[in-house]
Amino acid sequence: MAAGARAHRCATAPATGLRACLQATRGSQTGSLGHHRRMPTSCSVDALLSDAPGLSGCTLLGHGANRMVLSDPADPGCCLKLELPAPARTSGSLRTRLRRRLARLFPQLGENAVELRAWHRLFTRLGADALAGRIAASHGIIETPAGPALRCELVRDADGRPAPSLYALLYETPRFTADALCAAVDDFEAWLQWHAIPLFDLNAGNFVVIDGDGGPRMICVDAKSTLSGKELLPLSRQLPALRRRKIARRAERLRKRIRTALPTGASLR
Ligand SMILES: Nc1ncnc2c1ncn2[C@@H]1O[C@H](COP(=O)(O)OP(=O)(O)OP(=O)(O)O)[C@@H](O)[C@H]1O
Ligand SMILES: [Mg+2]
Repeated sequence: MAAGARAHRCATAPATGLRACLQATRGSQTGSLGHHRRMPTSCSVDALLSDAPGLSGCTLLGHGANRMVLSDPADPGCCLKLELPAPARTSGSLRTRLRRRLARLFPQLGENAVELRAWHRLFTRLGADALAGRIAASHGIIETPAGPALRCELVRDADGRPAPSLYALLYETPRFTADALCAAVDDFEAWLQWHAIPLFDLNAGNFVVIDGDGGPRMICVDAKSTLSGKELLPLSRQLPALRRRKIARRAERLRKRIRTALPTGASLR
């Protein structure tokens, strides 16, 4: 049976496990679940998924302000992004809160739908070869026992393990020097500029890092910002000079974060 069909069949399973836990976070959440802040203990994936047969093989790969990302039990090459319930998200700006409210009424405004559209748009414009190894592919939205999930390509390191986020490499398990990671940012920035891609949310949680031949290489796992952003009029997306400057500014900000986070550690590569 195709992986998608298997996952789809899970939708008929009782709404237990992950769905129940996500609902439980409504009561237990004392603070916001900020980007890479600690997950509530009730959301340990083993506890979440113990009752959901279709997702029982899932492990938590990471989470952001809006979604949690699990391995896909139906396909080791994929991961599943599940939107968090409202109380488990960061409070966000008025605009963000408004967008989330609207997304409850119009699912096409939700993070998963936006990311899928962003990917389709990039894919249509640039093709698979240009995007390979730069932006993780989005395959589609499927039903799971925990609700709809965006199925994406799971980026793995050379050793086969899920690639760590840049955030983890800065604040949890440093492995590369600031110079090496800044060179990876330079490389990604040049690629964005070359292809005129308005990817502006260059935060460390939106990238995973693989150990390439020439040093660390960044792969974007969240392309939402090519379609949605904070500007009321999306001028930076439409005007090339603004787009170029904004990409350069955001890349510089990320390099500064890297240099602040990483000491000149002798044990790092
Ligand atoms: N395709 C992928 N392959 C490997 N790991 C991934 C992938 N997608 C996401 N992750 C992991 O999940 C984390 C959060 O992913 P993502 O940015 O998609 O969540 P998010 O809720 O949209 O974040 P935010 O809205 O805060 O930017 C990443 O930092 C990474 O650790
Ligand atoms: Mg993200």
